[in-house]
This record gives sequence, C-alpha cells and structure tokens, in this order.
Amino acid sequence: MRISVYGVGYVGLIVSVCFANIGHQICSFDIDNEKIHNLRLGKSSTYEPFFNVMLASAIEKKTIQFTDNVSEAATFSNFHFICVGTPMRIDGAADLSSLFSVVESLATDVQKRFLVIIKSTVPVGTSDLVAEKINETLSARNVTISFDVVSCPEFMAQGEAVLNFFHPERIIIGTKSKAAFEIVKEIYAPLLRLQKPPISRVLFMSPSSAELAKYASNLFLATKISFVNELSRIAEFTGANINEVIHGMTTDSRIGPAMSKPGCGFGGSCFPKDLNALIHQAEANNYIPNLLHAVQEVNKNQKLYFIKKIFEFFKDDVRQKIISVWGLSFKPNTDDLRGSISCEVIEELLRACAKVQAYDPVSGENARNKFKEFSNFKICASKEEALNHADLLVVMTEWPEFFAIDAEILKKCMKKPVLFDGRNMYDPNILTMQGISYFAIGIGFIPPMRANSVKAA
Ligand code: UDX
Repeated sequence: MRISVYGVGYVGLIVSVCFANIGHQICSFDIDNEKIHNLRLGKSSTYEPFFNVMLASAIEKKTIQFTDNVSEAATFSNFHFICVGTPMRIDGAADLSSLFSVVESLATDVQKRFLVIIKSTVPVGTSDLVAEKINETLSARNVTISFDVVSCPEFMAQGEAVLNFFHPERIIIGTKSKAAFEIVKEIYAPLLRLQKPPISRVLFMSPSSAELAKYASNLFLATKISFVNELSRIAEFTGANINEVIHGMTTDSRIGPAMSKPGCGFGGSCFPKDLNALIHQAEANNYIPNLLHAVQEVNKNQKLYFIKKIFEFFKDDVRQKIISVWGLSFKPNTDDLRGSISCEVIEELLRACAKVQAYDPVSGENARNKFKEFSNFKICASKEEALNHADLLVVMTEWPEFFAIDAEILKKCMKKPVLFDGRNMYDPNILTMQGISYFAIGIGFIPPMRANSVKAA
C-alpha cells in the first residue's frame, strides 16, 4: 500500500523505514530539508540497532522516498500517518502546533477519500480537534472529500524500536469507523502474519480511549519505576537490600519483573513529557492527579538524592575532583540525551567545578556539543581512559560493556576504587570483595571488604 508519513523524528523515521521493509511504498515528509537531504543519501542521525541496514535496504529497493514538499506527501497516498513531535510547552502541555500545521497542509492538497492516522502522543480529544481542522480546511476549499481520523499510538521503546515494531504486543486502532479500523489493520497485516502465534492483539476502540491508553501505558510504567525508587529509599534507611526486595516482589506473576529496576530516576523524551501533559490536561479540567504528581516528585527526588550522596562523599566540596562518568544517554542502545539523568548529574558536578571525564559507546559527540561551554568536561575514547586519576566512578547507563568490571583496572587507574552505581547494576558483594567501595540507592555505601572478613564459599 502507498503510505505518507509526516515527521521523520524518531517515531516517524522508524515507522517509515519499517513499513518500507514490509512491502509498503512510503513517502516521508519533514519540514527540515537538511534532514531530508541526508536521508536521501541514506544518512540518519538516529542510532538504533538494526536501523541503518533497514534504511539502506529500503532506499536501494526504492520502497521509500523522502520529501520536504508537503504537497508531494499529501498527493502520494490516501493514508497519512502523523508522527510529528509534540514537545512540552512551558506550562507542561503538549505543543500541537506542528501537528495542526501538517494536518492543515495535507488537507489543502488531498483529492480523494483519505485517512489521517495519528501516531504522535497527543492529549485526549486531539483526534476530534484534527477532524475539525480538516473540515475547516476542506470547507475553505469548497470541496467535499470524506475522511476519518484514527488514533494509532506507537509503543516502541528506544534502543529496541525495530524489534518492538516487528513484534508489537498490541496494536491499538482508535476510530469511530469500522471501515477505517479495517484499513489500518490491513496496513499492519504483513506484521500480524509474522507473529507466532500468528495473531497479535489488534484492539478496536474510540479515538479518545486510544489517546488515553497511550498515556496510561507510559505512566503506569513510570509509576512502577517511581514505586520501586521510593522503596529503594525506605530499604536504605531500614537496612533492607533493595535488589532482594524487588526480587521478592516481582516473582509474583501479577507484578512481574519488567520496569522495576531502581536507580536515580527515569529519563528520556516520553515519560517526563507525558506526565506533564496528562497532569496539565487533568488540571485544566479541575482534577488534581495526586498519584501522577507523586510519580514526578519521587523521580525528581531520586536524582537529587543521588547527587547529594556524591557531594557528601567529597564532604560537599567537589572542586578539582576528577569524576569519571560511564554512560550519557538516558538508556542503553540509543544516543539520545533528551531527559538524560546522567547529563543532569554531570551538569551539577561541572557547575560545582568538578572535572568530569565521561565515556559513552555512542553519544560522546552529542555530549561534547551539549557541554561545550565547560572546560572541565572531557569526553574519553574508552571506559578505561575515563578512569585515569579519577577520585570516583559514577555509572549512569546500563550499556552492556559496563557490566563487566575489572577491579584491577579500577585500582590501577583511579586514585582509589570507588563506584557510585546510578542504575543498581552491580552485585555489591562481588565488587566490595574485590576491594572496591560501592554506593547504590537502596543499598547504601559499602566500604571494601577486608581480606580476612571475606567468608570462604
Ligand atoms: C517509553 C515506553 O517504554 C515506550 O513503550 C513508549 O513508546 C515510549 O516511552 P523509552 O522512553 O524509549 O520508552 O524508554 P524506557 O525503556 O521505557 O525507559 C524510560 C526510562 O526509565 C529510562 O530512563 C530508563 O533508564 C528508566 N527505567 C526503565 C528505570 O529507571 N527502571 C526500569 O526498570 C526501566
């Protein structure tokens, strides 16, 4: 099928390229002509496992084309996927200006019955507003063209987006029209046939339910993380071990282990933005969402507590201290620094005149740019280089290469081997037995074990 995609940000680009690899013919539009120029050459600034190979394959097979001319996309097909950004406004609400602008432009050019399928995360009720906007534009053109607006939220997570696209747990199709539902289901049909068992869950619901279901999913996960983070604080002052507590809790199949890793808070471009947007929409309707406020508050405090512990370790004076930071992106397998807690921690340290030596497998260049005003910030070429003469190692992102800790290298390179674990990645016993001092929220600070206190197995 021929499909037009609007916006080649993270979601739009992955959706375009994945659709182009399952037999559809794609025209992707973006207002950013430099981005479009690079994409035509097969160059993408998105780091995502498997993605570049798929982009190259779609370009080679000519199943994808890129344009900065919205009319070209509007006349290319009758199915218009809207994937533009809905960034957070200063008041916390989602900014829908790009979305309305693109919808107005496409409604100016469409000629035949069409579907608008909204993938961007939007406030509840946006599909109805989009339909109004299209009606206004068509009336101004003095034409009658029938159309439907569908909410089809995207659930893929960064770093595993391609995998999530090909193996969705569910596809939500929010529309008032059964015919529109069948068309969108048909667009996804090649994917559905790939599933084992073959039929994944395709859910038919109203556009408003679909819009709220997207917030509900993200914010339930954010709530789960804030819940374990709150427990981690309680564990720390009661002497319980948070990793054991979570193991005890998540082996209950009603709870489950996913999204229950404690640490210094969730980041990224989705959870924080979606929290603000739903809080804003609830309050605009005179409802105070206490639980969502608490999720936000716990998340903020978790980060501040971690920063406070670093400062306490240096008796509140980090000036000239050399702090090695492993991991800059907000999670592994992405180069995205948006909402990165690592960057927030680093900024606090830099402002307090610490010297930060950072390493990340893919987002080093982005970070160099982000912190270019700080002469006390240095990007290192390897995790070992980042350790040179360091007073402290802070691990902030669970990249696979950070899991294996070589105690001898830490001892050799650092002034003293001290590790602050922002993601509760390590087994404190194993590290302290090897002579490393260790801190994680929910565990507390553990000095290295003395050789004679190590019990024989
Ligand atoms: C999220 C949703 O998972 C995805 O379905 C939606 O489409 C977009 O938003 P994403 O932001 O890519 O995806 O990342 P996710 O893996 O959910 O992690 C978000 C943040 O939570 C990260 O900072 C991560 O480090 C943190 N996190 C995750 C935890 O602190 N603990 C966990 O157990 C899991």
